[in-house]
Amino acid sequence: MKKKAVVATILDLGRQPASHQEMGHAFAPTNIALCKYWGKRDTELNLPATPSLSLSLGQKGASCTLRRIDQAYDTYFLNGQPLELLTPFSQRLKNYLDLFRPADSFSFQVTIQTNIPVAAGLASSACGFASLALALNDFFAWELDQRHLSILARLGSGSACRSITPGFVEWHEGVLADGMDSYGESLKEAWPELCIGLVILTEKEKPLSSRAAMERTVATSHLYSSWPLKVKTDLALLKQAIKEQDFKLLGETAESNALTMHALMLSAWPPISYALPETVLAMQRVWELRQDGLAIYFTQDAGPNLKLLFLAKDAEQVRAYFPGVEVLQPQAT
Ligand code: PMV
Repeated sequence: MKKKAVVATILDLGRQPASHQEMGHAFAPTNIALCKYWGKRDTELNLPATPSLSLSLGQKGASCTLRRIDQAYDTYFLNGQPLELLTPFSQRLKNYLDLFRPADSFSFQVTIQTNIPVAAGLASSACGFASLALALNDFFAWELDQRHLSILARLGSGSACRSITPGFVEWHEGVLADGMDSYGESLKEAWPELCIGLVILTEKEKPLSSRAAMERTVATSHLYSSWPLKVKTDLALLKQAIKEQDFKLLGETAESNALTMHALMLSAWPPISYALPETVLAMQRVWELRQDGLAIYFTQDAGPNLKLLFLAKDAEQVRAYFPGVEVLQPQAT
């Protein structure tokens, strides 16, 4: 199994203490991609077909606590509720933890607490797996660096590799078959005035996982061959926008990138649409507000909810036009 081999390589680099701590604990922020990850070059290792760029959401994310328990199987708690062991999320957790068990009989108790809605397109699996990778590092006292922690997080969920570090994070696609050069790295620039508005239209679980939707898009969309060039262009524009603090360039590029990703999905077969009628209404509202002179843009992931992009000076207006919007300023000092 390729994942086991990657884990063995990385753990050889860390400290190898004989035992583990009583408890491991860590927090990881969630992240919103401004240039999306859509399509894999290796489905087992979650290696992306292209690079991507995200913004970590500061204090919004997941906390994970890990203990050893004296029983034959793991137990998982998500936001205070025990998880049935047969749910897809529990299976993903179990498969991930299998990579790190010192012995087959070693069972974990995992408690994950998020302060964002779960499975509502707010990358809860990204911060969930990132917090788990960090909690394992704490529990086993590996003392791994951020690059290797990012690679371990990626093995749980691709976008989790961008949730190890704060601020703007670029996920290098890498070229190596084992993915040792495919990890998230923070840019040095910060943008304290940049705000994200979470427009939650539904908290219902998405009908199709991002993994399945990505695979279908790559396999059936005749537009997919244009995606790597779009990403290359957008990544360069976003980095320029961040460096020059050019909000119009950032917003236009992020919105166009998200819409292109959804256009790829619409052109897949069977077609995929994550939008609800309310999603389209909210997009149209953003376009109208922009016509009227407000600098506001959106991005959308594998779910119907929108994330608005705007600057702190416009927060009051955005609140007035989108009642109930949750405004975050991830890099405010
Ligand atoms: O890492 P996954 O499998 O949850 O995929 C994330 C896909 C998007 O959120 C739609 C895009 C991205 O780059 O985060």
